Formats: sequence, structure tokens, C-alpha cells
Amino acid sequence: MPAVEIVRTIDEVRDAIGGASPVFLVPTMGYFHEGHLSLIRTAAEDKVSEPEGLVAVSLFVNPTQFNDPKDLEAYPRDEERDAALAREAGCDLLFLPTAREMYPPDEGGTRVMPPRVARKWEGEHRPGHFVGVATVVLKLFHIFFPDVAYFGEKDWQQCRVIAEMVRDLNLPVWLKLCPTVREPDGLAMSSRNTRLSKEARARAVELYRALLAVADAAARGEDFQKECERAKERLFAAGFESVDYIAVVDGETLEPASAPGPGLRAIGAATIEGVRLIDNVSVD
Ligand code: PAF
Repeated sequence: MPAVEIVRTIDEVRDAIGGASPVFLVPTMGYFHEGHLSLIRTAAEDKVSEPEGLVAVSLFVNPTQFNDPKDLEAYPRDEERDAALAREAGCDLLFLPTAREMYPPDEGGTRVMPPRVARKWEGEHRPGHFVGVATVVLKLFHIFFPDVAYFGEKDWQQCRVIAEMVRDLNLPVWLKLCPTVREPDGLAMSSRNTRLSKEARARAVELYRALLAVADAAARGEDFQKECERAKERLFAAGFESVDYIAVVDGETLEPASAPGPGLRAIGAATIEGVRLIDNVSVD
């Protein structure tokens, strides 16, 4: 297996890419699980028919998207393990910048104003989060000039924010949104899951189950508002200490759905043992 090239500066990225084309980019914050690895493997599969192609992975725990400094500090990190996993999954180039490289002390503070779809839900509960996400993703697009970029549908609202940014700013990149990878019991894979005790981990799957029940009610044309309230009660009963939202929304605009219809998604965010989890499922 060829070694993955590890680079830490933007100049090194540009040198390493050289004339490679197309560039397949997987932006991540590291501490890889099957969700990340499936994105990297998808990129590696897309490269098979492209002899001049390159699979790049960025690993950067982006401070500007964390509204809670404790969450940033607690975010798990293991560069060595990640480099080995990325290589096995088919990564050619791994970018591991420092915060100083991405946001040098002399930067002027330019930030991307995210689109309307960023306002509610995560936008409301994590003020400034999508400014940080949109800014760092745009920076990564300008560092790599990828032809294709890969994101996981677990962060559904993030996918919509990035898709609208790409459209609104005419960015020449094709987005490939990949399905959520789940643990055998259904819990969406997330780097944050590793912070849960065994007991809380076992109960955490209730978020997924609650969303499935809401989606089911919406798909059957039933009163899904009532089912959202029931889902919240179910999460508190399972030991979640807070529920930020459980809702049925239009999958494109993220506006709350008022009636059953096509393209809806059940979305939710809730905290157990101090770990905030998010998930979403299709209503169809
Ligand atoms: O989904 C993530 O891991 C991050 O939000 C992203 C897209 C890599 C930006 O930091």
C-alpha cells in the first residue's frame, strides 16, 4: 500500500497536488470512524477510473465552528491512528494544519455569511457555528480546488448550508453527499460517541428510534407535531438531559413542515451525559 503523504502547510498542499486532476477532497475534523472512512473509500472508488486523480483528506478541528470552548477542548484527537486509517481507506494526501496555519494571527477576520438555511436548528442552538463551517469549507476549497468534495448526510443541515454556498458563490466543485453510517443498533456514527459511558451509549440510540417514530407518523400522514412531543418525552425518559429540537422539516429549505408531503426529514439534537448528538432520517 503506498504511503499517505502528510502535509501541514497550505504551500505544501499546493506542491503535493501539482498537476493531479481531478482532486477528490474529504474535509474532516478527524478521529475517524466508519462514517469518515466511507467518505474516503467513496472518493478512492471515484479515483479508480482517473489515473491522474488524487484523494485528499483534510483533518482540522476548526475552532471557529465551536461555540462552546469546552466542546472544542473535549473533541477527540489521534493523528497517528487517523493517518493509518486514512491510508487504508485510500487517501493519498492528508492535510493536518495547525490553527495558526488556517487562521494566522494577522488575518483580518473575513468570514462567510451562511445562507438562510443555516438560521434555524443548529444555527439557533450553536450561534456562529455555520459561519465557522462555511468559512473553513470555503478556505479548504480554495486551498485544494477540489473537483469533488464529500460530506456525510448525518450533518444534514451542514450539507444544505454547503450546497447553497456552492450554488450562491458559483464554486466550481461537485458535492457528493453520502449516507449516514450507523452502528449495528442504529446510532449514527460520530466522534462524539466515544465520550459516552457504556450506559449512556446504550441509551443514545433512542435519538434515532425517536426520529424513526416521528418520520413514520409523518409518512402515514398522522399528526407529527404530537409525535415530536412524544419523542422528546421518550428521550427524557431514556436519560437525555436536554433536547434542543425534534422536528419535521422540508429537506431542502429546513423550514418546519406544516403538512405531510414529499422531501421531508425528521431532524433532532439532544444531549446525554453532556454529549450533544444530532441525527436525521428521511420521512419517505
Ligand atoms: O463535518 C465536519 O466534520 C466539519 O464540520 C467540516 C465540514 C469538516 C468543517 O470543519
